[in-house]
Amino acid sequence: MKTALVLGAGGFIGGHLVKRLKREGFWVRGVDLKLPEYAETEADDFVMADLREQSVVRAVIDRRFDEVYQLAADMGGAGYIFTGEHDADIMHNSATINLNVADACHRRTIKRLFYSSSACMYPAYNQEDPDNPNCAEDSAYPAAPDSEYGWEKLFSERLFLAYNRNHGTEFRVARYHNIFGPEGTWDGGKEKAPAAMCRKVAMANTGGTIDIWGDGLQTRSFLYVDECLEGSTRLLRSGFEGPVNIGSDEMVTINQLAGLVADIAGKTIHLNHIPGPLGVRGRNSDNRMIEDRLGWRPSQPLVAGLERTYEWIERQVARNAA
Ligand code: NAD
Ligand code: GDD
Repeated sequence: MKTALVLGAGGFIGGHLVKRLKREGFWVRGVDLKLPEYAETEADDFVMADLREQSVVRAVIDRRFDEVYQLAADMGGAGYIFTGEHDADIMHNSATINLNVADACHRRTIKRLFYSSSACMYPAYNQEDPDNPNCAEDSAYPAAPDSEYGWEKLFSERLFLAYNRNHGTEFRVARYHNIFGPEGTWDGGKEKAPAAMCRKVAMANTGGTIDIWGDGLQTRSFLYVDECLEGSTRLLRSGFEGPVNIGSDEMVTINQLAGLVADIAGKTIHLNHIPGPLGVRGRNSDNRMIEDRLGWRPSQPLVAGLERTYEWIERQVARNAA
């Protein structure tokens, strides 16, 4: 039986990944500071532990796993990473985890590791035009991410790829572009725009108003979690190390995102634009490289994933209200 290790298995993408690997027949160990919040874990073995501790990381990487997914990070949406209040923690926590994990995998002669970097590592100067952002993989340098979260991701990408060059590992690096879906953080301050829009619309009456940070003309693309997992497992099992974008190239403004959610809910919703953490003005996944190297690209329309996500968040809102 093949074995997989999912670091960050108590989180949104990690929780979904464990389910997928179980369906594929893997024996799975999950590790996280916490259990998944919204569903039971399906991991065969779940270790609650702090991956900032080197001894912990060496202990959980106690065998030669066939596949390792390093998803554990100190992360959140714009309301978490762009306020500046968490910069030191984000850099220290995530970099320490990645340093420990790269070293422990190398010691165990584990070759295949997947690392989830982020589109936040791309330079801010290429993302000022909301209609025409440049997120081609080779546009990363000269580096100028607009957040410490992005700088840490860039450092850790380089860390994992340096192990490949110096130690013969086959670590893989993907740059995720705003992943969403059911069982993701939907309130509390770390939620991203799709979940925030779903929550706000679910809580509003038809004819009501929801708050949007900024003028809502900033652009993003959003990838449904199932497609993210498809791209991630394909990359890990391929002969290509990356870094490569895993994201949707269906770019929308945040106002359009809110409108799509309101349509799904069947509500008339007015938008109230307020100051808030904004991040880059425009961002879209450039999918030429993933199509070229893996022969695959995400294809589901945004609205399909939003329908499933809205339904789930509407239920969470109703449950909380009850
Ligand atoms: P998440 O916050 O839901 O999951 C991350 C998990 O890591 C959490 O469960 C957290 O408890 C765990 N963790 C943090 N510090 C830890 C520690 N010291 N020891 C053990 N576990 C620890 O985030 P997610 O959306 O599932 O993201 C997974 C990965 O993908 C992260 O690396 C993130 O930076 C990256 N990413 C996500 C997105 C996105 O849109 N979701 C976009 C770009 C990159
Ligand atoms: N979260 C949130 N909540 N964002 C809002 C809201 C709101 O109520 N209203 C408007 N926005 C705007 C933000 O100001 C930002 O301009 C845009 O929606 C997108 O915000 P997020 O989804 O929170 O984050 P992001 O796209 O800037 O960054 C996310 O994606 C990266 C990868 O592409 C984050 O999740 C990063 O951690 C991730 O790496």
